[in-house]
Order: sequence, then structure tokens, then C-alpha cells
Amino acid sequence: MTDGGLFITFEGIDGSGKSTQIRVLAETLRGKGYDVVLTREPGGSDGAEEIRSLVLEGDPDRWSAETEILLFTAARRDHLERTILPALAAGKIVLCDRFADSTRMYQGLSRGDLRETVDHLHRLMIGREPDLTILIDMDPATGLSRAKSRATTEERFEDFGQALQEQMRKGFLGLANEFSDRFRIIDGEQSIDAVASDIADTVLTHLS
Ligand code: ADP
Ligand code: TYD
Repeated sequence: MTDGGLFITFEGIDGSGKSTQIRVLAETLRGKGYDVVLTREPGGSDGAEEIRSLVLEGDPDRWSAETEILLFTAARRDHLERTILPALAAGKIVLCDRFADSTRMYQGLSRGDLRETVDHLHRLMIGREPDLTILIDMDPATGLSRAKSRATTEERFEDFGQALQEQMRKGFLGLANEFSDRFRIIDGEQSIDAVASDIADTVLTHLS
């Protein structure tokens, strides 16, 4: 809680239930009187939302991993300056659907080992880690079929296929081990209500 507020991120493979659960948690916290800002990456500010369509639409091979690192980090810098840091400075709870851990995984692991490049640019341009990260863990096949059942043109990463999702699941579990102080792993294969209840318990424990 370095800036007065609390910065909580949600991570996990595509279709793991992040967007569903982050909305439920926002309502739970608001019901308890907390001032909550709900945001997402890539996006969360006007400029970053423009970058979002560049990175999420079109051919999977539209960008190299290196170019993606720059685009996601540029979007994150704008989001941090305009949305996240002002909300934290005002003492709010910021709930963010994906953040730098997604870049560490999707750009850092999927096409060669670029993790050091991601971390280097992160230290240089972002320099802020979440206070708490909720990792919704689940079977990649189930996640991908849930993700694919949505009607959207934002399918670039889903089109990399199930092997990528499997690699991302393993990678996220490794990251949870590496940053065990801030990561909490939630079983995403339960009902929506059961997952929501586990997440609320975890966050309320942290708040108390
Ligand atoms: P993400 O943001 O992680 O990609 P979503 O929250 O968009 O995931 O969920 C993907 C799809 O799966 C949505 O259609 C959502 O309604 C559904 N879904 C989410 N959580 C569950 C769950 N626990 N059980 C069954 N379906 C779920
Ligand atoms: P998101 O909208 O959260 O998709 P989903 O709801 O399917 O999980 O994120 C879109 C995609 O962007 C997702 O496949 C992961 C990818 N992504 C990266 O590759 N790097 C990043 O830094 C971020 C934030 C997302």
C-alpha cells in the first residue's frame, strides 16, 4: 500500500473467469463501502484502449514478441499515469484485469525466452507491482472453449491455440511461486459463486 490505495490484479489464462470475477468482487467491495476503480489491460485509458485493438485483433503473426513488449508497455505506461496512480493516490482500491505478469508470460515465454527483456523494460518504464495478485487457475482446454464461445474479434492470442494456454498456465503457476508474497491461487473450475466466495475471502483477509 505504498500510495495510500490498494492495487489488486487478476491473472490467468484466457477464459479462466477474470472479467466475471473482477466485476463480482467490485460489487462486493462497494457493498462494504470501499471506493473501487475497475480497469483492464491492455486498455484502461483512452490511449491504451487504442493500442488494445492493435494488439488483440488480426493475424497471430502480425507482431513479433519484441514489438508486442513495446506496445503492451506503452499502453501500460499510459494506463498507469492516467488511471491507476491517480486512483491509488486518492486512496481507492484499483482492481485490474491483467497487468505486467501477463506480459511476463505471453510476451516473455511464448516465442523464446524474453523474460529478462520484459522485466528490464518494466523496471525502466513501469516500476510498480501489484499489492495483491489473484491467479485464477484452471484447465486450459476448458478455459479455451469458454473463451472461444464469446463473440469477439479480439482473438489474436486465442488463435495461438491450446499449446500456448498450457504453457501460460504452467508459467503463471511458476510466477505465483516466484512472487509468493503477493500471489494467491484460486481454483477456477468451481461454480461462479464458489470462485467469487474464495476471492472475496482472500481479499477481505488481506484488507483486514
Ligand atoms: P476471462 O476474462 O478470464 O477471459 P470470462 O470472465 O470472460 O474470462 O469468462 C469466460 C466465459 O466463461 C464467459 O462466458 C463466462 O460467463 C464463463 N464463465 C466464467 N466463470 C465461469 C465458471 N466458474 N463456470 C462456468 N462458466 C464460467
Ligand atoms: P483479455 O482481454 O484479458 O483476454 P481474456 O478475457 O481472453 O483473458 O486479454 C486479451 C489478450 O491479451 C490475452 O490473450 C492475453 C493478452 N495479453 C498479452 O499478451 N500481454 C499483456 O501484457 C496483456 C495485458 C494481455
